[in-house]
Amino acid sequence: MEELFRVENVCMAFGKKEVLKNINLGIRRGEIFALIGPSGAGKTTLLRILNLFEKPVCGTLIFNGLDTGKTLRRRMSLLFQTPVVFNASVFENVAYGLKVRGFDKRIIEKKVVEALNTVGLPGMGKEKARMLSGGEAQRMAFARAIVYDPEILLLDEPTSNLDPANVANIEDIIKRIRDERGTTIVIATHNIHQVRRIADRVGVLLNGELIEVNSKDGIFTAPQDERSAAFIRGEMIY
Ligand SMILES: Nc1ncnc2c1ncn2[C@@H]1O[C@H](COP(=O)(O)OP(=O)(O)OP(=O)(O)O)[C@@H](O)[C@H]1O
Ligand SMILES: [Mg+2]
Repeated sequence: MEELFRVENVCMAFGKKEVLKNINLGIRRGEIFALIGPSGAGKTTLLRILNLFEKPVCGTLIFNGLDTGKTLRRRMSLLFQTPVVFNASVFENVAYGLKVRGFDKRIIEKKVVEALNTVGLPGMGKEKARMLSGGEAQRMAFARAIVYDPEILLLDEPTSNLDPANVANIEDIIKRIRDERGTTIVIATHNIHQVRRIADRVGVLLNGELIEVNSKDGIFTAPQDERSAAFIRGEMIY
């Protein structure tokens, strides 16, 4: 499969603290790539770097064969653990990214309707966003993140605050976004069962090092690193 995003020799530090060490990783177009590892391993930091929110201390990011610059921002979209909800209608919340990008009103309407359909909130545009349940608010956040058709969707533990029914719902949406829109997805998660359900490939981060990249089947049946195996078995404390 063709590579969409390439991370070469990336390192990151906050003050003297090394948070990412020499990360090399290729994300393939159209895949669901799970980033797993204990708390503090550097998952969020890596997602923020992929989203160009943060400039790494060293290394290169190559997107679609080109060295990244700020102009690429609209090709990526990052979704957080807790949905950000503006005190306005669902429509306004979802339309936000299109408005700041200066899209035409009719195109905005069409794209918002499509995005709300994809996340299973059809016809909810007029509702007050603050009135939505936690699961609905997270689905609205997904609609906002995909409304401008990013090539890559970065998800930072998008289901960790949800009950099992809503987790299943969000996992369906993640798969649907990939299947229907061809969006490449990188998801940071603590949830090994989630990895089993939705991922194609997996990267294991530990203390800022990417200790293993493997297919889903590979990581569950024959992990290459004993520490990945321990994490998969749930023996690692985090
Ligand atoms: N802005 C910052 N300033 C200083 N240290 C930071 C900053 N952001 C992250 N760190 C540190 O970098 C390390 C990695 O943090 P990060 O949030 O990337 O981990 P994580 O794998 O996402 O953890 P979790 O699973 O708990 O979300 C941690 O030790 C954290 O304290
Ligand atoms: Mg995190």
